[in-house]
Amino acid sequence: MKKIEYNQFAEEALDAIADSGAFLTVKTEDDLNTMTIGWGSISYMWGKPVFIAMVRDSRYTYELLETTNQFTVSIPFADAMKEELAFCGSKSGREHDKFSECDLNTTKAKEIESPLINGCDVHYECKLRFKQKMDPDNLDPALDEEWYSSDEGYHMFYFGEIVSCHKEE
Ligand SMILES: Cc1cc2nc3c(=O)[nH]c(=O)nc-3n(C[C@H](O)[C@H](O)[C@H](O)COP(=O)(O)O)c2cc1C
Repeated sequence: MKKIEYNQFAEEALDAIADSGAFLTVKTEDDLNTMTIGWGSISYMWGKPVFIAMVRDSRYTYELLETTNQFTVSIPFADAMKEELAFCGSKSGREHDKFSECDLNTTKAKEIESPLINGCDVHYECKLRFKQKMDPDNLDPALDEEWYSSDEGYHMFYFGEIVSCHKEE
C-alpha cells in the first residue's frame, strides 16, 4: 500500500464508483459488514478532505454506522471485482457474511477500526464528522418520484473526514 493524497486519484475513483461501485466497509465492536455504493463525493470542507457516502436507512450498514464514527471506502478500478460488488450490493449483512461468501480479504487500516478490502485500487479511511438525513420536503419532486417511491427509505449523508488514503500497488 502506498500513501497518496486524497485527491490524487479522485477522477478515477469517482468514475469507478459511478461505473460499477465501491465497497463501503464498517467495523463496530460487534460486527463487520460491507455494502456496495454507487454514489459518493470526494470534497473539501471545514478545511479537511471529506468523503460523503449516502446510505438508505433500510440498509444493515446504516444500523452499523449509527453505532460507530468511522468507515472505509475501497474502490476497484476498471471493472475489477464486479461479481463481489454485485453480491455486496444485493445481499444484506443481516443474512450473509459477505466476507466469507465472496472470499474478501482485508488489511488493517492505519487510523481507524474498519478494514480495507484487498484487491481494490484506492482506499479512503474516514472519520465521521457530520451526518444529515435527507428531508423529503426539500427534495425536487421529480427526484423523489424517481428514487424514493419504493420502501427502501431516504438516504443519510455521512460526511467522513479522509484521515488516510492509499493506493494498492
Ligand atoms: C452498483 C450499486 C450501487 C449501490 N449504491 C448504493 C448507495 O450509494 N447507497 C445505498 O444505500 N445503497 C446502495 N446500493 C444498494 C446496497 O448496496 C444494497 O442494498 C446492499 O444489499 C445493502 O447491504 P447491507 O444491508 O448489508 O448494508 C447499491 C447497490 C448496487 C448494486
